[in-house]
Amino acid sequence: ARPAARRGNAAPAWQALRDEAMGCTRCPLYRDTTQTVFGEGPVDAPLMFIGEQPGDQEDLAGRPFVGPAGQLFDRALEEAGIDRRQAYVTNAVKHFKHERRGKRRIHQTPETPEIQACRWWLTQELELIRPRIIVALGATAGRALLGKAVTISRVRGAPIALEGGAQGWITVHPSYLLRVPDEARKAEERKRFVEELREIGEQV
Ligand code: URA
Repeated sequence: ARPAARRGNAAPAWQALRDEAMGCTRCPLYRDTTQTVFGEGPVDAPLMFIGEQPGDQEDLAGRPFVGPAGQLFDRALEEAGIDRRQAYVTNAVKHFKHERRGKRRIHQTPETPEIQACRWWLTQELELIRPRIIVALGATAGRALLGKAVTISRVRGAPIALEGGAQGWITVHPSYLLRVPDEARKAEERKRFVEELREIGEQV
């Protein structure tokens, strides 16, 4: 475990890191966005969630998981008995990758160069916060966490021992649950996600 003295220093270090990330130009994505969307939550959180990248609403609000996927995520956390305010929530990529179609901005999946460039920030968030449990939501977050491509269906459902002693979990991204076309399957998938979160919450 981390010595108490270092814990005490985490807040200003985190603030400095966040301030620095606001001016990030490590990859070209910053050019066409409103702002960097950095992680948020207690710096001593035992639990960290990693998403993919901010969406349209997150880009405007400057906060992770506040749009439709975030609202689904909030409800799932609540049903699973996890208080979001006790968790640190961040993304693998901190700028919104998208293409413009008329007035709309359409999400584009970040690729290896962006994920790699942005690991600079994620690694430092992990080092400062040192969560005991890290949950990657979706394949991009899984790749950022493990440093290699992952197949969700293969790695889902069981904890992964991470370097440094933390417990890792990789599961689906909440936006996947928004996209399941069949209503019965959607409900089933959602239930599975909540059950997984509940199991994770029990480890905290
Ligand atoms: N999807 C993500 O992966 N992160 C967000 O912050 C919002 C939507």
